[in-house]
Amino acid sequence: MRLLLCGDIVGRAGRTVVIEHMPRLRRELRLDFVVANGENAAHGFGITDTICAELYAAGVDVITTGNHVWDKREIISYIDGDPRLLRPINFPAGTPGKGHGVFSLTDGRKLLVVNAMARLFMDAIDDPFIGLDKLLDAHPLGAVNAILVDFHGEATSEKMSMGHFCDGRVSAVIGTHSHVPTADAQILPNGTAYQTDAGMCGDYDSVIGMQKEAAVLRFVRKMPGERLQVAEGAATLCAAFVETDDATGLARRIAPLRLGGRLTAHWPEVETVGVAAS
Ligand SMILES: [Fe+2]
Ligand SMILES: [Fe+2]
Repeated sequence: MRLLLCGDIVGRAGRTVVIEHMPRLRRELRLDFVVANGENAAHGFGITDTICAELYAAGVDVITTGNHVWDKREIISYIDGDPRLLRPINFPAGTPGKGHGVFSLTDGRKLLVVNAMARLFMDAIDDPFIGLDKLLDAHPLGAVNAILVDFHGEATSEKMSMGHFCDGRVSAVIGTHSHVPTADAQILPNGTAYQTDAGMCGDYDSVIGMQKEAAVLRFVRKMPGERLQVAEGAATLCAAFVETDDATGLARRIAPLRLGGRLTAHWPEVETVGVAAS
């Protein structure tokens, strides 16, 4: 199965690069399923039902989120009606929405998508390790053809620990939230693809997607700055490409994808259809 996880989509610039390139990415990389983290899609903060519809129309199958999921409050009443929009699985019991879903491809293959959130330097929420452990007991590889985990977190140590914790039990653990791609894409010893952070889909002439002047001033002066505004220059689409073995559910390859905007382009070295990145 060929999967793509796009990191946090930040604002209009991030949405534009994803929507513009997704049809050809699906075609050229022969993607079976696309997941995108949309927690910053609405002007940097949260997501709306309209944006969900735009991303689905472009070819995104499932949208994951994180700490910014409720920034646009209208999504609170929307989320229970949309099984393709996930919030972290380890939010307290009773929270609207779901943290996982089993999705069927048109050819009958099944994929479990999980959205979990880390705790170090983040909000106090339920233990993501226990949450994953329970979920994977209920939905082991074998019952589904592939399992993709979006682990939304700040600390590289906690994300790497989650990778090893899940190694051999899921197809891929890909980090989101830091808005910067890491260069550690690898297949762990027991067969799980891993990358600490996919990076954001956003304007990299910024401070993690926010206009740089105000963001820098917050560090230079020890006083609250003006409200951060989303950066709207040309965005780089950052994602992790994963190919799994349908029989075992384990990973055959993982490669970062970077396309457009300021970051050095990187196209997964896989058999593709058509031309390479521009
Ligand atoms: Fe984010
Ligand atoms: Fe986040």
